[in-house]
Amino acid sequence: MSDHEPLLSLRSFLDEVDARGELREVRGAHWDLELGAIAELSYRLAMPPALLFRDITGYPSGRVLTGSTGSPGRLGLTLGQGGDHTGESLVQALRGKPTQWAADAKNYPILPVTDAPLLANEITGDKINLLDFPVPRWHAHDGGRFIGTGCLVVTSDPETGVHNGGCYRMEVQDGGRAVTIAAVPGKHGAQHIQAWFDRHGRAPVTVSFGHHPLLLALGGTEVPLGVSELAYAGSVVTNRIPVVLGPDTGLPIPAGSELAIEGWLRPGQVREEGPFGEWTGYYSGARREDLCMEITRLYHRDDPIMLGAPPGRPPHDYSYMRTVMKSAMIHDELVATGVPGVVMAWAHEPAGGRLFVAVSIAQRYAGHARQVGHLTAQLPAVSYMNRYVVVVDDDIDPANLDELMWAMATRTDPADDIEILRRQRGSRLDPMLAPGAPPFTSRAVIDACRPWERLSSFPKVAQSDPGYLSEVRARWFADPGSTTGPGRLR
Ligand SMILES: Cc1cc2nc3c(=O)[nH]c(=O)nc-3n(C[C@H](O)[C@H](O)[C@H](O)COP(=O)(O)O)c2cc1C
Repeated sequence: MSDHEPLLSLRSFLDEVDARGELREVRGAHWDLELGAIAELSYRLAMPPALLFRDITGYPSGRVLTGSTGSPGRLGLTLGQGGDHTGESLVQALRGKPTQWAADAKNYPILPVTDAPLLANEITGDKINLLDFPVPRWHAHDGGRFIGTGCLVVTSDPETGVHNGGCYRMEVQDGGRAVTIAAVPGKHGAQHIQAWFDRHGRAPVTVSFGHHPLLLALGGTEVPLGVSELAYAGSVVTNRIPVVLGPDTGLPIPAGSELAIEGWLRPGQVREEGPFGEWTGYYSGARREDLCMEITRLYHRDDPIMLGAPPGRPPHDYSYMRTVMKSAMIHDELVATGVPGVVMAWAHEPAGGRLFVAVSIAQRYAGHARQVGHLTAQLPAVSYMNRYVVVVDDDIDPANLDELMWAMATRTDPADDIEILRRQRGSRLDPMLAPGAPPFTSRAVIDACRPWERLSSFPKVAQSDPGYLSEVRARWFADPGSTTGPGRLR
């Protein structure tokens, strides 16, 4: 590792992950499907490690990292919460943090620097070739090689100058000379690009392809509009993030980046891209046109590490991160609406952290459960491609699918307790969307709370009193050595 690693260096992060025993090196995998398949198999392990691929077939230098945020310890480290976490303790630690980070971001403007390991190699013009690096073809039916999975695409608001960092898939084009950026209309980066097109006829962009996974977690999650993800990252680590300013565009590139490009997007400068195996668990549909970036400059460290975050049928590379980040943000946004009694929110991983959200509440008044359900369904952190919101009482753990299913099955009358909202914000990635149809979805708000008017008379839950249960547990389950009498059930 270099002596002077910038703040948010991926290499420093990997040293910490390695010290925790959570990093595995993989040598000799092929970039064409094999690397992606190894990563996919690892996501299905009980505690998946981070994988650092090197000596990738045909590429004596250049590395790819997958699984960067796939454990509570690594995600805790990523989010500045320390590495000693279980899933539950990490969620508790994050309570209130997104609100605080967003509010404090203004105190951490980017810190321009002129020296960074990234500047070791600078390539311009015709010599630029993204396929000089081991860009994987991740899934068998992908339309090409996607260099942008864990990337950070930086744009700016042409009026205010505020930066945005978003993670959008990017497919290599023109044999390595160019790259498409698939930012869905409405995403903050897409709004910036359109605003630049309207005012100046082109839009400046920088992209980092390898960086500390904090920038993946923030770039890949709905940080509020108008708050720069780089400033937000500064707020998370309570330090200004050092950046190199691209000489062509003036836009920042994190100084801790391993590999980055800058250049321009222009209206009508498009290439066909996709399909791509996506977070819904399906391929994204037909190949279609998207904006293609003209790359003016490429920078890279020696033997750079690209941050891979391929989606797919869950669990996938970032599904755990998405679930934890979304759950924390939804909880915070819901509390910020002023609605009382919110206990916990959970954005379920098998539904990509978006499609199925559950919230538990302590019911306070008639209509409370529906109010929470409808508010949740429209929160900025939820509105994109959510299909189900379920509200449960506070004796149910919304993160536990068995408990959730029991509440839904026993505390709802489907005719009365499922409300359907139509023409909601969907996604062009929705496997249910008919070809060519605009991306609407309907949405169900399921009130799986006991009916308010029957709270005191609703049938009692058939389980023993918790105090009595712990007495019995101590007497019958606690002594592992005993085979008869107290302790024999252990
Ligand atoms: C690995 C990864 C890939 C993503 N790919 C895309 C994509 O291709 N297009 C898109 O619009 N959003 C994509 N997202 C989701 C966006 O990153 C997310 O909505 C984010 O909030 C966008 O930033 P913005 O809100 O600042 O626009 C991806 C997220 C991750 C983590």
